[in-house]
Amino acid sequence: MKIGIYPGSFDPVTKGHLDIIERSAKMVDKLFVAVLNNNAKSPLFSVDERVNMLCEVTKDIPNVQIDAFSGLLVDYAKRRNATIIIRGLRAVTDFEYELQMSQTNRIMDENVDTIFLTTSLQYAYLCSSTVKEVALCGGEVGKFVPEYVVEKIKEKVSLLNAGE
Ligand code: PNS
Repeated sequence: MKIGIYPGSFDPVTKGHLDIIERSAKMVDKLFVAVLNNNAKSPLFSVDERVNMLCEVTKDIPNVQIDAFSGLLVDYAKRRNATIIIRGLRAVTDFEYELQMSQTNRIMDENVDTIFLTTSLQYAYLCSSTVKEVALCGGEVGKFVPEYVVEKIKEKVSLLNAGE
């Protein structure tokens, strides 16, 4: 059984992430989409909220399971018996960081390989932080994230505005 992991912050999941999830789910028997629980970053959504959004937008893909992890990715991969890490590559700017991360992971655990999928062209520009910036400035994000996530972002932005 070929088990893959697609790790990330997913704060929030975008249409670009979903495209990578749909394509990579076809390449493995089981795909864990794993949200990093990272206290160092100050996310817009909690890990639970991010897991919930991912569950909702991937509910029609049978071999996908949503999960959260903390600590090292290679340790999480071992716990899940995964041998493949999936990452999306948008532009050359992603490359240096991704290369460094995949090589570090491979040195830490030679049983895990990273596979890069080039992002579909229509999402090549897309990243979660830009989506958040647009939303926090009152812009429409329906072109960037699934409908369910649009609603969650609206709720979050109005909560933040009410607290101002
Ligand atoms: O969506 P992101 O924020 O680019 O995802 C980055 C992620 C979660 C894949 C990466 O930060 C990660 O794997 N962190 C876990 C800690 C770890 O294993 N670090 C060593 C890799 S060099």
